[in-house]
Amino acid sequence: MTIQLKDLAPPVLETEYAVRGPIVARAQELERSGREIIYCNIGNPQALQQKPLTYLRQLLALCQCPELIEQAPGLFPPDLRETARRVLKGTQHGLGAYSDSKGVRFIREAVAAFIEERDGIPADPEAIYLTDGASKGVQAALRILISGPRDGIMVPIPQYPLYSATITLLEGKQVNYYLDEAHGWKLSRAMLESSLQEARRYGVRVKGLCVINPGNPTGSVLDEANIRMVIAFAREHGLALLADEVYQENIYLQGDHFTSFAKVMAGLGEEEVSLFSFHSCSKGFLGECGQRGGYMELRNIPADVTAQITKLQSVSLCANLTGQVATYAMVRPPRPGEPSHGAYQEERESILSTLRHRAALLAEGLNAIPGISCNQVAGAMYAFPSIRLPEGRTDEAYCMALLEATGICVVPGTGFGQVPGTAHFRTTILPPTEKMMAVVEGLGEFHRTWR
Ligand SMILES: Cc1ncc(COP(=O)(O)O)c(C=O)c1O
Repeated sequence: MTIQLKDLAPPVLETEYAVRGPIVARAQELERSGREIIYCNIGNPQALQQKPLTYLRQLLALCQCPELIEQAPGLFPPDLRETARRVLKGTQHGLGAYSDSKGVRFIREAVAAFIEERDGIPADPEAIYLTDGASKGVQAALRILISGPRDGIMVPIPQYPLYSATITLLEGKQVNYYLDEAHGWKLSRAMLESSLQEARRYGVRVKGLCVINPGNPTGSVLDEANIRMVIAFAREHGLALLADEVYQENIYLQGDHFTSFAKVMAGLGEEEVSLFSFHSCSKGFLGECGQRGGYMELRNIPADVTAQITKLQSVSLCANLTGQVATYAMVRPPRPGEPSHGAYQEERESILSTLRHRAALLAEGLNAIPGISCNQVAGAMYAFPSIRLPEGRTDEAYCMALLEATGICVVPGTGFGQVPGTAHFRTTILPPTEKMMAVVEGLGEFHRTWR
């Protein structure tokens, strides 16, 4: 007899991942039957025509095919050929060999230098793990923190479903804290306190707190005072922090800037709060989701715990080497004066200014539709508008009907969590600008007429 569904572990059956759920499956079915679908469901920039950075792709090409460094010198700028030589030497055996479990030491040193330059604080290459995208880092941190069914992890609501799915799979308890939609999705101490106390009342041992900054799906950006408040809260209650900073380059409003948890912790001289920070090649202006590059940085984690994390990483041997080199390209871009620098800067600016433009366009377009209201998209790659629905209708039914009627594929708010009694959907800001206009128009028409 073949394997049966009933034989699977309940947490596997209970795990949900809305970003690729039934609505996306239906969209693919419609596409196969010839319908045009506009995929606004997932932050996958290159699936929506964003161009890869030439520097990153050329570096990967040379590292994958080292003979091109000498055979095709005219095709690649001299600094890039030099960089490829350095990376290959750093890997010792090229991209076809396993690296250390933590990743190639040379690349971890480059990540440490990147953090030092970004934040003006020291960083230790031994506290850095190169991972297959940020997802694997987040999963590793949650694996370490959840030791039994009473262990709770605080996650923002709305949240990115990697967190809910992984906590379910690890049989931990998801402890929700709500972000304040009426105030630009702000994170408040009062909300953190009330959700922690509520969980404790139910006997949950809260061990960690996840923060997504800039936020997915909310698009909000935390300031330094906010981050200090979260660190103080974590210290008072003995929580580890997970800082998901994959959208650190996606900040759109003038005057806003990214502040890392690592920087604020180092500035406070904080040594009591354990911090796991995550970054990725998938977002920002790289959009290299398919390369699966990223890293996790640890702070204030004792050596014996670090050794356990390294042991777990070594069970999968190492992160893929192509992703590790993509991470190198992310943290060590061409510098001013190097021949590749001009084109790199131009491509970077063009991508970021397009995203900035679309972020404003989308929020404005959504707010012009009666019955839809959307906060400013200050960062990341999404809008999470609130929608007024006819009595008795759900956001899931709305999104499915929207897909059937217009070919626009968005994700129901239920997949991210929302205040009971409210309804939302998440859309990305990634479709090309003319398609984005079509999305806003299609949504407007649909929203006016759906009953
Ligand atoms: C907040 C957040 N964290 C982590 C990830 C995972 O990204 P990756 O594993 O591709 O680095 C995503 C992807 O959309 C995300 O939105």
